[in-house]
Amino acid sequence: MLNREDFEIFKTGLIYFDNAATTQKPKQVVNEIVDYYTKYTANAHRGDYDISLKVDEKYEGVRNKVKEFINASKTSEIIFTKGSTESFNMIVFGFMAHYLKKDDEVILTKSEHASNILPWINLSEKVGFKIIYLDLKEDNSFSIENLKQKINKNTKVVSIAHITNSIGDVRPIEEIGNICKENNILFVLDATQSIGHIKVDVLKYNIDFLGFSAHKMLGPTGVGVLYGKEELLNKLVPLEYGGGMNIMFSSDGKYELKELPFRLESGTRNIAGVIGLGAAVDYLNKIGIDKIHEYEISLKKYLLDKIKKVPNIKIYNENLDSGLLLFNVKNYFSQDVAIFLNNYKICIRAGNHCAKMLQEVICSTNTCRVSLYFYNTKEEIDILIEALMNQDKILDTLV
Ligand code: ALA
Repeated sequence: MLNREDFEIFKTGLIYFDNAATTQKPKQVVNEIVDYYTKYTANAHRGDYDISLKVDEKYEGVRNKVKEFINASKTSEIIFTKGSTESFNMIVFGFMAHYLKKDDEVILTKSEHASNILPWINLSEKVGFKIIYLDLKEDNSFSIENLKQKINKNTKVVSIAHITNSIGDVRPIEEIGNICKENNILFVLDATQSIGHIKVDVLKYNIDFLGFSAHKMLGPTGVGVLYGKEELLNKLVPLEYGGGMNIMFSSDGKYELKELPFRLESGTRNIAGVIGLGAAVDYLNKIGIDKIHEYEISLKKYLLDKIKKVPNIKIYNENLDSGLLLFNVKNYFSQDVAIFLNNYKICIRAGNHCAKMLQEVICSTNTCRVSLYFYNTKEEIDILIEALMNQDKILDTLV
């Protein structure tokens, strides 16, 4: 377990295994946000007085921290959004709507999150491009062979998660990025589940567009990032117009937009959120992302070894790539299991995990998901195992 003392919430005895849904927030992140609200609240990029200038410095400082964190070339390639969902809608409706033509092909998989499927389905209805769902391997992981087979002259985009929120497999993105580059295909990466867990490097992996949310990497809700290569972001048509993103507008209908990144950040942004995101990046850097990943994998191994000894458990992802385990207790509805575990102060997620097509792959509509993070412990896993050993009491606790 790493740095658990920074998380106030664990003093209550809570066992939080729903980190793929959102992570807990360390006091360093919370304090940064409180500081902004109590010591220097002002708007950004609009004032000429001290506290407003401090906000500008902080806000733009975070842009630089994020740039370094994902190894982008320029700060102008980092756009602050409401979260991953907004980032993906901007990519699809702001850029792809003007780029893709009828009969073009976009490659996805069925284990993607809703925000990396629904915008594409919606746009394809209007434009007429084809969505190709790449077949997964037997263990539900990504197949490079299948990708190579599906690519043809019409393939324009590959858009996939780095780590899926459903199966937890880590995709071979360096290879995928190289294949996309060789074939002149745009590579869009959903880094929502990977960003706080494993290194994301947009240059190394030839990533053209990327999106993630701060709240899955210790940061606040309501803020996220869209990364895009500068030449692509320059072609992205804003989905929102307003203050902060224009240079001028006049009654004869003329208007001029600012340069990147501001042309894609209209209105007053989530300033406190961005500042909180900066504190989260600092916090993760301090521990070290490789150390976090290593620890998570050792915990997942411990969990796997233990849960395999519990009777009547069906596991859907044995892989040891990430800290996410998907399972069911035979004869019990996953939500009943989650409610039962709540009696032990254990939080897991039950359901389809915003990846509704996954049921077509794993042949089960609902599953239990344990998703680990660096503040979880082996002792917490032991309590989960003990609870699952008492599975004959699951229904008793419901009535
Ligand atoms: N997409 C989030 C999850 O995986 C909410 O739980």
